[in-house]
Amino acid sequence: MNYPYQIKNLEAYHKAYQESVEQPEAFWANIAEHFTWKKKWDSVLNWSFSPYKVEWFKGAQLNITENCLDRHLEKNGDRPAIVWEANSPEQAALTLTYRQLHFKVMQFANVLKNNGVKKGDRICIYMGMVPELSIATLACARIGAIHSVIFGGFSAQAIADRLEDAKAEFIITCDGAYRGAKEIPLKDVIDDALIGNHSIKRVIVYTRTHAPLSMIKGRDVWWEDEIKKVESDGNPYFPAETMDAEDILFILYTSGSTGKPKGVVHTTAGYMVWTNYTFVNVFQYEPGQIHFCTADIGWITGHSYILYGPLSAGATSLMFEGIPTYPDASRFWDIVEKHKVNILYTAPTAIRSLMGFGLEPLQNKNLCSLKVLGTVGEPINEEAWHWYDENVGKKNSPIVDTWWQTETGGILISNIANVTPGVPSFATLPMPGVQPCLVDEKGIEIEGNNANGNLCIKFPWPGILRSTYGDHERCEKTYFSIYKNYYFTGDGCLRDAKGNYRITGRVDDVLNVSGHRIGTAEVENAINCHTGVIESAVVGYPHDIKGQGIYAYVIFSGIHENEEHTRKDISLTVSKIIGAIAKPDKIQFVSALPKTRSGKIMRRILRKIAEGDTSTLGDTTTLLDPTVVEILIEGRL
Ligand code: PRX
Repeated sequence: MNYPYQIKNLEAYHKAYQESVEQPEAFWANIAEHFTWKKKWDSVLNWSFSPYKVEWFKGAQLNITENCLDRHLEKNGDRPAIVWEANSPEQAALTLTYRQLHFKVMQFANVLKNNGVKKGDRICIYMGMVPELSIATLACARIGAIHSVIFGGFSAQAIADRLEDAKAEFIITCDGAYRGAKEIPLKDVIDDALIGNHSIKRVIVYTRTHAPLSMIKGRDVWWEDEIKKVESDGNPYFPAETMDAEDILFILYTSGSTGKPKGVVHTTAGYMVWTNYTFVNVFQYEPGQIHFCTADIGWITGHSYILYGPLSAGATSLMFEGIPTYPDASRFWDIVEKHKVNILYTAPTAIRSLMGFGLEPLQNKNLCSLKVLGTVGEPINEEAWHWYDENVGKKNSPIVDTWWQTETGGILISNIANVTPGVPSFATLPMPGVQPCLVDEKGIEIEGNNANGNLCIKFPWPGILRSTYGDHERCEKTYFSIYKNYYFTGDGCLRDAKGNYRITGRVDDVLNVSGHRIGTAEVENAINCHTGVIESAVVGYPHDIKGQGIYAYVIFSGIHENEEHTRKDISLTVSKIIGAIAKPDKIQFVSALPKTRSGKIMRRILRKIAEGDTSTLGDTTTLLDPTVVEILIEGRL
């Protein structure tokens, strides 16, 4: 497969960018011509930001799996689609060619059908990073069911909330998952999530860890048994369901500034075109290369750059079950050497954590296959950028710093490898089709370079979210009404003298902990569930490895046993309600929170104290009781 729309030099980038702004419809129609459609579109783009409605390629019909699988079979059927590296280096790697993956996806689509799944049904997928996770996800797309993958670190309560919100009727899970030295009892967590649930019709369980399980008659079935039934039917073929361009492909839950995560909705055609276009361009993928995205498929990065982007481009995507530090901190480098990885796409938090082990784990590792490095998920500090550049890329591989979000479907702002220049800690320039702007507090656009403001996007790109599941109003309110006629990203940003963008971090109450997005309100709600907690306030503070740590101020009615014990109890409560990823790093017990006379918590002050920067607390005279601040400073952890 070649990519006629791959941008090959700086001039071509400027030309493509200009065309995408001046004639967006013609620009995207030309690109969309390179995909497989059952029926072409009637119109390329219909849109309005107020009220919010976006439709790309309306009237077209397709199935994304025909683009990710079937269309590669004739010429590249024997090319590896997925190379899988197990958690344990002792276990042999596994390769699925396009032909094999196509077969397995159809086979599992038949399993889904036999179990009563129909087009439009919602299926929750809660699995470890095994190849069957990719197969299950693609099989949902094949049959036209809406997948909602939930990261294996979320708790039973978090799953239960998501199942209810998505009105899901089916679950695909594993007995357990291996992650480093840990074994995570996924099915047990699902069982807890399903206590009192009467909507789930079927739970399909894939065997990975052989952990003992409860299997409920009439509800739970084994993946392997269901496959055997399909095999004995003898016909693995499963025609790709015809989907409208704007039919929902998936829901993915993400945190915002309210306590309740929202189900970001992505539809079929626009998302496909966007992930493919950005994959092929940002990483400058060349056929035959091995692309290693280290994310989990439970996050948007895995959806877009392990599955849909690479597979729609006929690429070879490496999927890794484990973690960078198991069995030791050379694991990534061993994988790069073993599989001759060409593109390594990871998160700053992973880089910072590996930096902490020094250079020893990199010694004698052959990394010369690497051509392009990428980062995603949070701002990368210059120190980590240079470490990555010098020790991994050997100053020979461009680093693409890709800024995007669950809501954007794919990369919006990034340098393009070997085409547009990289600048340490800058995401740099917008992709064609992306029209960023900076606005001030009042929503007035700040023109010109050397500017600092809130990052908005003026015009829809094909991968933009279409809604938040079951609550379109919430989508409109969150993204399109804070600044009228703009999509508001929630990020602060500056633009330098050359027009390069640098993301400075969230300006709303959303934290980015180890690249995971967590709402402060969500953590507060969880802390407040602990018996004895009267009130809490959560803020972020700089953390050397995680990027941001979680700092909780808690008003407690009576310490049980001792403070340390109570801290552990509160952390466990948060683990049960959200998941271990949201556990506070620090809990300071306080007798009061700094509030204005109208009862609003002044988070700015709490943030400053957590950061240890108490020299510039600003005006505290509007506080109901300014003496609170001194007490908080004294008790700082
Ligand atoms: O704050 C930005 C940060 O991550 C947020 C989006 O999080 P999520 O939806 O979980 O998606 C992460 C993976 C795409 C953004 O609002 N972020 C993401 N990439 C970068 C970044 N911040 C700075 N630089 C980046 N490259």
